Amino acid sequence: MRSIARLDRGFHEIPGPKQWPLVGSLPDFMGQGPGIHRVHKAYYLKYGPIVRINLLGNQEVIVYDPNEYLKVFRQESNFPTGFVGDLWMVHEIFKTRPYKSFVQSQGIEWQQKRREVQKYVMSPAVAASYLDAINDTAKKVSSRIDVLALSSKSNQVELKQLTKYISFDLFCSAALGKSLNTIDPANADPRDLQMVEDSSGSLNRTVKLMEKPYAKYIPTREYKECESMYQGVDRRGHELVQQAVQDLENGLAVSDETGPIVHRMLAGGVDPVAVNGELAALLGASVDTTQHVILWLLLNLATHPAAQQKLSSELDSVLGGADYTKEVQAKLPYMKAVIRESHRRNHTNPLLTMRRLDSDISLCGYNIPAGTRITFNGADIQQDPKVVENAERFFPDRFLPEQVALRQHDKTLSTLDHKLLATPFGFGARMCVGARLAESEVWALICRLLQDFELRLDPPNQTWDIAMPFMTIADPYPSISFIRRAQTPSKA
Ligand code: HEM
Repeated sequence: MRSIARLDRGFHEIPGPKQWPLVGSLPDFMGQGPGIHRVHKAYYLKYGPIVRINLLGNQEVIVYDPNEYLKVFRQESNFPTGFVGDLWMVHEIFKTRPYKSFVQSQGIEWQQKRREVQKYVMSPAVAASYLDAINDTAKKVSSRIDVLALSSKSNQVELKQLTKYISFDLFCSAALGKSLNTIDPANADPRDLQMVEDSSGSLNRTVKLMEKPYAKYIPTREYKECESMYQGVDRRGHELVQQAVQDLENGLAVSDETGPIVHRMLAGGVDPVAVNGELAALLGASVDTTQHVILWLLLNLATHPAAQQKLSSELDSVLGGADYTKEVQAKLPYMKAVIRESHRRNHTNPLLTMRRLDSDISLCGYNIPAGTRITFNGADIQQDPKVVENAERFFPDRFLPEQVALRQHDKTLSTLDHKLLATPFGFGARMCVGARLAESEVWALICRLLQDFELRLDPPNQTWDIAMPFMTIADPYPSISFIRRAQTPSKA
C-alpha cells in the first residue's frame, strides 16, 4: 500500500459542507428536486477543486480538477468498480436474474465479460462497420421529422419523447442491423415501444432508489417497478435474440467486419442467454445518454442561428447532401467544435465517473484513504470564468484548432483542452464501451438533420431552467421548428 506523502493534509481537512449526524450533507440536496447539479456547482464555487461530502454516512470526495482526477485513473486497478459498483439495487435484482452482464459484474468476471463484448462494439473498425445502418436510420428520422413538422401548424416537433425513440432506433441499427422504427409509434411493434420505456424506466428508477437506501430492506414501489422493468427488457430482448438466431439459420452472413452486434456475438459462439443479458446492458447504458446529448445539441443549434449557419455551410461544402462517413470527420472541424462546445456548456451528467481505489491516494494535497468513493465532476470547471472566457455563451469557435493552439501554453486556459474534459465518456479501463458507437450515432444524425432542416426556436421568446432528474435537460424542453432546406444536389 502506498504510504502517505509527508506533506499531505488529512482526509478530514478537505473542505466541504457541514456533515450532520446520520444524514451527513443530505440536507443540502433535500428540497432541490432535480437540482443536484446546482448543489455541486455551489460546492465548487465555495470550496474549490476538491470537496468532501457525506451522504447518509458514506464519505465521498468530489474532484473538479481533471489534472488531479487523472491520478485516480493512473492508480485504478485492472478491475475498477465504476458507477454501477455502488448500485445495491442492481446487485439485488441481478442476483435472481438468469445472467449478469459485464456492467453488473466486478473483478475478473467483469474483465472477462467486458473483453468479450468490446470485441463487437469498441474497436474503430468495428464501430465504423455499423455506420451504414446508422445512416439509414438517420434518414428515417429525417423523414419522420418531415412528417411531424408538416402536420404541425408552425413546423414544431416535440423532441423530448421523440429523441428517446431516435436514440433507441439508432442503437438497434447497430445491435440488430435495423431500426425498429419506434420513432413512428403508431406503426411500431408495441413490444418494442415497451422495451424503450422499460430500458429507460429501469435506469431512472435505479437513480431514484440511490436516494432511498432503506428500500433495500423494505421493497418500495420504485424497487418493484425497477425489477419488473429489467425483466421486461429481458423478455423482449429474448425474442429479438431468438429472431437473430433464426436470421443466422436462414443464411444471414456475418464476419468480423460485417453484421449487427447481436448476430456477430451469436456467430462468435456467445451463448444466446449471455447475448441477451449484454444486449440489455448496452441498451440500458445507451438510450438516455445518447438522447440527452442529442437534445442539447439540437437546442444549442436552434438557439444560436449564427453557429447553425456556419455548421450548415461546412456540411454543405464537405458533404453536399451525402451521409456522414468516418473518413470525412477530419474535414468537419466546426462540427467537431459544435459537439465539444455543447458538451462543455451542457454536460449531460457530470457524476457518472466514480472510482474506489485499493490504496490511498494524494489529491490536491490531501490524503484520500483507500476505498473512498471518488467522483469526477467535469462540468463545473468548464463553466468557470477563470478558465473559460464568456463561459455562458455557446461559442463553438473556441474549440477550433487555431483557438486551442493560442491557449496551449497558458496553464489555466488550456485546462479546457484536458483529455478528461474532451468527451463525455469517462476514461480508463471502465470507460464507456459504446463511446465510438455513440459518436457515430450523434455525428450521423446531426449531419443528416442539419443538412435537411433549419432549426428555429419557435416561439422565439421561450425560457427554461436546467433540471437533472438523471441526465441534465432543459425544463420545460422548448418547442423547436424544423424547416426543410432546399435540396442540395447529393454527392452520395
Ligand atoms: C453520447 C452517449 C453516451 C454517453 C455520454 C456515455 C457516457 C458514459 C459514461 C460517463 C460512462 C462511465 C465511464 C466511467 O466510469 O469512466 C459510461 C459507461 C458505459 N457506457 Fe456509455 N455513454 C454513451 C453511450 C453509450 C452507448 C451507445 C453504449 C452502448 C453501446 C454505452 C455503453 C456503456 C456501458 C456498457 C458502460 C459501462 C462500462 C463498464 O461498466 O465497463 N454507452 N458511459
